[in-house]
Amino acid sequence: MAKMATSMVESGDDAFRKIFKFYRRRNPPPDFSKVIDFSKGVPSDKIVPAKLDAASVSDVEAAKVGLQPVRSWRAFGLQGYPGFIFISNPFLVGSQSFWVRQCLKTYPQKPNVCNLDMHMSSSDTQDIWGKSVHGLSLPPSGKKEPKTLLERLRWVTLGYHYNWDTKTYSANHHSAFPADLHSLSLHITAACGFPGFNAEAGILNYYRSDSSLGIHVDESEIDHSRPLLSFSFGQSAIFLLGGICRQDPPTAMYMHSGDMMVMSGQSRLLYHAVPRIVPAPHGHAAVEMEGRSQAASLQDGTVVELVSEEDWAVCSRYLHSSRVNVTVRQVLGPGQSFPETPSSHQRTNASQTAGYHDGSADGESGKRRRISSYD
Ligand code: OGA
Ligand code: MN
Repeated sequence: MAKMATSMVESGDDAFRKIFKFYRRRNPPPDFSKVIDFSKGVPSDKIVPAKLDAASVSDVEAAKVGLQPVRSWRAFGLQGYPGFIFISNPFLVGSQSFWVRQCLKTYPQKPNVCNLDMHMSSSDTQDIWGKSVHGLSLPPSGKKEPKTLLERLRWVTLGYHYNWDTKTYSANHHSAFPADLHSLSLHITAACGFPGFNAEAGILNYYRSDSSLGIHVDESEIDHSRPLLSFSFGQSAIFLLGGICRQDPPTAMYMHSGDMMVMSGQSRLLYHAVPRIVPAPHGHAAVEMEGRSQAASLQDGTVVELVSEEDWAVCSRYLHSSRVNVTVRQVLGPGQSFPETPSSHQRTNASQTAGYHDGSADGESGKRRRISSYD
C-alpha cells in the first residue's frame, strides 16, 4: 500500500515528463489539437499581444539584418509566463535563406566547436560543408547512403563555448562571436525592451525529423537577468514551456521556421523541451516558402547577403528533413567575470561526446539540454 502510494506520487509527480512523452509518442501519434499556434495568432485568454519598443530599431537597421520593421512584427505573451515573448516569423521574405546558409555553411567552421570535433581529427572536420555538398546534391538513389558530415552535425557552439561536461562556460575557451548574429540578436532584444544585449555565447542545435531535446533549464549563464534568445529554421517543432519545477505541467506550442522566442524575467529559468519535430505546414518552411531574395542588399552596411543558387540548393535539401535552432546568450553581466574554479582550467573532450547524445526515452536530462533521436 505504502509502496503503491509512493510510485503513484512519482509518476503523477513529474507532469512535465508525462506531457513530454505524450508528444514524443510515435504510435499512435498524439492529438495536437491543444498545441498553441502563434502563426494563427488570434489573441485568446492565454495569448496576449506583447508590447515592443518600435523606436529602438529603425526600419533600415532592421532590414539590414533581414527583419521587417518592428511595428509590423506579431509578438505575443503567454498568460502565466511573465517575460516570455514569442515573435511569429519577423523576417523579410527571402532573408531566412541567408541565416540558414550561415548556420549550415559558416558557423560550423573553425574556430567554432561542433559535436564532430569530439571524435574526429581537425582536418576531417575542417570543411563540413565542402565535404557534404556532393552527397546532399545527389538525387535519392533509393539505397541507404552513408550520412554526410552535415547530416551528422548535432550542435555547434559560438563565442564562449559551452562545455557539455562541466556545464559551464569559461574565459579560456572562447572565440569571436559572429558579428552578423550579434547584430541580429541586438536588434531583436532591443525591440523586446532589453537594450545593450551582448551576444556572448551561441548554441546551434541541428535536429533530424526524429530528434528531440530533453527537459532542461538554461542556467549556466552567470547573469540570469539578461534574456535568452531562440530562433529556428526549417521544419517545425513542438516546444514545451513549463514552470520552475517539474511538477508544473508545460504549455505546448509550435515553433515554425523564422519564429523567435525571448525568455526573460521570470521566464528565463523555466523548464522547457522539444519532444518532437513536425513537418512544416504548407507555406511555412523557409525551404518551400521563399527561396532566396536580395531583401535589403542595396543598403550600405547590410548584413544579409544574397545566397548563391548552388548554396541554396544544398540548404533547402538539408532543411527538407531538418530543423536548426539557434540560441543566443549573454553569459556575463556588465563588469562581471568568470569565477575562478578548477573546472575552468580543464576540458575533457572525450566525455563531452557522451554527455550530449542521450539515449533516455523520457526526456530526462537533469538541468541541461540533450538531443536524442531514434537512429
Ligand atoms: C536550447 C533549447 C530549444 C529549441 O538549445 O537550450 O532549449 O527550440 N533549444 O530547439
Ligand atoms: Mn534551452
